[in-house]
Amino acid sequence: ILFELLKKAEANAIEKGELLPYVIGVTSKVGNTPIKSLERVKHIHPMLSLRNVFNEEQISAQFPDLGKNEILLNPKLDGLAISLIYRKGQLNVALTRGDGSVGEDVSHNTKHILTVPYNINQGHKEKYDLEVRGEVVIPRHAFKELNKKMVELGEKPYSNSRNAVSGILRSLNPDIDISKYLGFYAYGFRFIGNTDPVLVDYAKSMSQIFGYLVSIGFAVKRHRRCDTIGKAMEFIKQMQEIRPEYDIDIDGVVIQYNDLDVQQQIGESSTYPMYAVAYKFPAETGVTVLEDVEWQVGRTGVITPVAHVDDVLIGGVCYNAVTLHNLAEIKRLGIKINDCVIVSRQ
Ligand code: IVH
Repeated sequence: ILFELLKKAEANAIEKGELLPYVIGVTSKVGNTPIKSLERVKHIHPMLSLRNVFNEEQISAQFPDLGKNEILLNPKLDGLAISLIYRKGQLNVALTRGDGSVGEDVSHNTKHILTVPYNINQGHKEKYDLEVRGEVVIPRHAFKELNKKMVELGEKPYSNSRNAVSGILRSLNPDIDISKYLGFYAYGFRFIGNTDPVLVDYAKSMSQIFGYLVSIGFAVKRHRRCDTIGKAMEFIKQMQEIRPEYDIDIDGVVIQYNDLDVQQQIGESSTYPMYAVAYKFPAETGVTVLEDVEWQVGRTGVITPVAHVDDVLIGGVCYNAVTLHNLAEIKRLGIKINDCVIVSRQ
């Protein structure tokens, strides 16, 4: 009864304009009903992946008409992609990428993420259904706290932020407070199944889409339009420099044509868009000393050599145990105790 009263009070406050629809956090964020399994749901549009590029030449080759057509760059967040479907301005379902064509319904956990608005303020476009895509992430400080909590709960800590996000989002009945750890950044948007000419014109470019996403209540990461390869490389360099202090793991920069007509003309293959690529940062590394090797037996009986190294700081995270993969790799490296080693974070 109290919950129903609270819902009514919120609805009234929204109507009077005392509460912004997209910041209601109470009635939409409480309650947790355990579920038995994740339902598989077909995506309205397939969730594609991106081809990787590693240097300036490959970027230039990908965007030969740069100058005539602008490109848009933004950081590639290392989390889990989700698709959010809003019906009549309300979050209806949240799906993981899955195999790209069929995803898993993770609405029960996604609704607890504070940066996933439950109601969105679409203005006059309210009656249209829409899809927002973006990345669920766990900031570095939250990742550390989460792992402390996992140890307290007697569970195994997560090895990296991507596994943590996937583990939490996909868990059937999480015993942690999701709102404390996970965040969401949007990078894609479309209206679902309509050809209204007014809507077709709502945005001509990706930069306008980012603006629209902010206006309806989503958080977005920084993005930059570039008309020369020099400007693009400068943005990449800046992102690479701030990467170690960035509170969210980023593993590269997404580069795409800014103009949506140009994107459409270039088109997509069944797995990749042809109008976008991901520039991947080189792996972060640190130099340290190999102190010991421990042979760890996994749940399935696989034996993995784990190297204990002197504390080494890589991208803001301190490591003292790293994998040596297998015996063949140890032989290939010819590695010995007290050797000076380069540790690389993938
Ligand atoms: S745009 C066609 N922007 O990268 C896909 N993707 O390999 C267009 N990702 O799983 C996606 N940060 O989840 C885009 N700023 C960003 C991104 C981003 C991370 C992920 C995405 C997808 C993968 C593509």
